[in-house]
Amino acid sequence: MQQAIAVLDSGVGGLTVVKEVMRQLPREKILYFGDTARTPYGPRDAEEVIAFTREIVDYLVQYKPKMIVIACNTATAVALDEIRHMIDMPIIGVINPGARAAISRTKTGIVGVIGTEGTIKSGAYDLALKRLSPRVKVISRACPSFVPLVEDGNFRSHETFRTVSESLFALRDSAMDCLILGCTHYPFLADSISEAMGPEVILINSAEETAREISAILHENNSLAGRDEVPVHQFFCSGDPRKFQDIAQAWLGEQIRINPVVWQVP
Ligand code: SIN
Repeated sequence: MQQAIAVLDSGVGGLTVVKEVMRQLPREKILYFGDTARTPYGPRDAEEVIAFTREIVDYLVQYKPKMIVIACNTATAVALDEIRHMIDMPIIGVINPGARAAISRTKTGIVGVIGTEGTIKSGAYDLALKRLSPRVKVISRACPSFVPLVEDGNFRSHETFRTVSESLFALRDSAMDCLILGCTHYPFLADSISEAMGPEVILINSAEETAREISAILHENNSLAGRDEVPVHQFFCSGDPRKFQDIAQAWLGEQIRINPVVWQVP
């Protein structure tokens, strides 16, 4: 059986990372877990997000993946360091890749970050950006209304555009030239975010850089999939499987089968 790259998220957002992994590493098998029954993680306190993330990692480890990707910014911000000490395999999050991508693109040295309340409150992006470039100016804003729109499959409606532009209005007059989509759900809303911010602001989606980091780790560990592998991906979700499947198929542009997981929702 082919060993997989395990990817987890609070819901459908991590599919933005999956799509990029499929593009860059088409022979790799993906095991995805979306905790759609307990999404969003953003408003939850750190202890709870850590407990949920540990639970999902324990679940995925049963399948003996070759590495784990926490494709949720909120979980990366509060749980990655702790979980790294818990398991004996490579594990990465999405914050460092996003920060690296922004620093390599910004010309003004002013970078915006939008994310959930949990991610913004953690200060994880400020830290990651300043570690890479101490003089960078970071302007952050929590956008709590975005994840529910995405989990409802509501990507392009008039209501979505109105919500997005109202949330980003305060950022319009800053001199940022890059805006990090600091939540893996946000690339689903990229059209509205881009329209609200204007063409001079580059949107940074950490998925591309995360997939590059996955590739580098597998290369270094000599564990890239062989040339003849034809991966059969597996998708798990804790909530409504039909809803997850519709969003996943539309986003990934391919048919997928879902394994629903009965999860105790507190
Ligand atoms: C959430 O569940 O609130 C969002 C996931 C993320 O931060 O990427």
